[in-house]
Amino acid sequence: AAGWDTEAGDCVIEDDWPGYSLDLFNYPAHYSGDLDCVIVPHGVIMDRTERIARNIMDDLGDHDIVVLCVLKGGYQFCADLVDRIKALSRNSNCTIPMRVHFIRLKSYLNDQSTEDLHILGAEDMSFLAGKAIVGTGKTMKTLLKHVEAFKPKMIKVAGLLVKRVSQNSACLPDYVGFEIPNRFVVGYALDYNEYFRDLNHICVISESGKMKYKI
Ligand code: HPA
Ligand code: MG
Repeated sequence: AAGWDTEAGDCVIEDDWPGYSLDLFNYPAHYSGDLDCVIVPHGVIMDRTERIARNIMDDLGDHDIVVLCVLKGGYQFCADLVDRIKALSRNSNCTIPMRVHFIRLKSYLNDQSTEDLHILGAEDMSFLAGKAIVGTGKTMKTLLKHVEAFKPKMIKVAGLLVKRVSQNSACLPDYVGFEIPNRFVVGYALDYNEYFRDLNHICVISESGKMKYKI
């Protein structure tokens, strides 16, 4: 898709990608039957995150970094990304101070984006946002408007996943892990009604999984 750099374009997961069979991976037994396939294995997420950390370091130079982690779905990606950035700074002579803040956003009920978006814990800030998934892009747009009001020197958004949906094109992260089909995914801190955060791989939820945890 248009609009982002060629490297992110190389991490496109096509609509006809069937994913990996769950039988090939280890995952919590309490979710057997609730998932269709593994769409991004944990190790691949970690490798891609390491590369994004390097790109961020290259771009930000010696600016101070204030990380804004968007809870809850972004916590794992943010933690792993910060970890990789710390490792890179340890191994280079340009080390940058990094502060980490957390805010909480909630906009999904079941697998649907709801109208009301809640921002909790946003006070004084100037940021780089760490977000795990950009679904409709609505959340990101609202958050950016809020952050811009604090007039930071630079704002960069890192999102692990971007869904291929048409409304998205206006608002994309500066750093994208993977572009994925427009399907509801869970795992690596992404939830379905608070379930599946305890799954390491990013998986496609099954119809019976949706039924089982519907509220
Ligand atoms: N999974 C979990 N949370 C989400 C998704 C998704 O596919 N899209 C937006 N929020
Ligand atoms: Mg959620």
